[in-house]
Amino acid sequence: MASTFVNVGPIKGLDYVGFRPSRPLKLNSGRTQFDPRPPRIFTVRAGDGDGSVGKTRLSDEDCEAAVVAGNVPQAPPAPPKPAAPAGTPVVPLLPLSRRPRRNRRSPALRAAFQETSLSPANFVYPLFIHEGQEDAPIGAMPGCFRLGWRHGLVEEVAKARDVGVNSIVLFPKVPDALKSATGDEAYNDNGLVPRTIRLLKDKYPDLVIYTDVALDPYSSDGHDGIVREDGVIMNDETVHQLCKQAVSQARAGADVVSPSDMMDGRVGAIRTALDAEGFEHVSIMSYTAKYASSFYGPFREALDSNPRFGDKKTYQMNPANYREALIEAGEDESEGADILLVKPGMPYLDVIRLLRDNSSLPIAAYQVSGEYSMIKAGGALKMIDEEKVMLESLMCLRRAGADIILTYFALQAARSLCGEKR
Ligand code: PBG
Repeated sequence: MASTFVNVGPIKGLDYVGFRPSRPLKLNSGRTQFDPRPPRIFTVRAGDGDGSVGKTRLSDEDCEAAVVAGNVPQAPPAPPKPAAPAGTPVVPLLPLSRRPRRNRRSPALRAAFQETSLSPANFVYPLFIHEGQEDAPIGAMPGCFRLGWRHGLVEEVAKARDVGVNSIVLFPKVPDALKSATGDEAYNDNGLVPRTIRLLKDKYPDLVIYTDVALDPYSSDGHDGIVREDGVIMNDETVHQLCKQAVSQARAGADVVSPSDMMDGRVGAIRTALDAEGFEHVSIMSYTAKYASSFYGPFREALDSNPRFGDKKTYQMNPANYREALIEAGEDESEGADILLVKPGMPYLDVIRLLRDNSSLPIAAYQVSGEYSMIKAGGALKMIDEEKVMLESLMCLRRAGADIILTYFALQAARSLCGEKR
């Protein structure tokens, strides 16, 4: 019974997570009912069916006088001390001045002292799109699809908005024939992403659209930048392309462009490029501390974007490094980033906390494909309770310091927080 949070979320339309005192609450265990009304206890007088004291016609003065005169009215007796099971050892009280369990002893107290909240408003929903009409399931990510940009995507966005998730980030599956060494399709104003942004903005003007800025979906090499013949990923030339990509996305209506490429200096360059084109209102969410992680495996399958050779270790960070995240954060902040992102999420909670404590900017965490797939797989095999682990993992990312979370669970978690079960 060591539930750390109570599985009650907001009702539809409410933008916070908390208790709804007006109706019984269901604990995580699924067993205990909690009635937040003050307990009405035991006997008072015969005839008071519900145990409450019937009203008399005495004035306040009469009541006080009666008590002063020693005619103290009856109230229920204090409840008896609950019995311990036979065989429980009898021990002297531990001399503790502090017993932290006191603040955890009832659902109401636990709710009162809960430090972190989780709301659909914190979620950004990553969505995979493709040119096709059908939604194609992604094998390594149960429940995720490459969505048809015209139909499946629009329906998925509608479902998310229904439960309070109004932010999405788009990842395109680009036809091989459009990929090239320099990834020029990335800034085709009529390419899949800009076209999709225009469609979504037409339908849902208030939807917050984040975009991915990186060349990998468009690169015939599967790298985030331009690859020189000796295998080196060219930094400044790539940044030039990324600026064009970000401007093209902004022109289509993107709200937040998110460079995930880890080239040096791209935040400042993109800021300058956006401003020069009149997009000073468009935000930059920088993938500040993006690690060269094996947790991206299912994502690369989803987009068919595995690097054709080598790995991404010359631009993505070494998972062994902590201080280096501060260097990246300092640069991004001074170059004008609006949001700093840490990726992956759960294995890097210390880095999320580091950035939270060293920057005043909003912090984003990306619960990446591998994290999602592990929870899904564990749930499918009945090794863990998928829903509870999902909610706990998201709560923990918030507790570590993330303001927003990019998560493939966005819709499922929001439904769960809204009390909708499927
Ligand atoms: C690439 C990109 C990746 C992800 C988001 N953008 C993969 C990579 O760096 O190879 C991974 C997201 C995930 O695993 O969920 N620009």
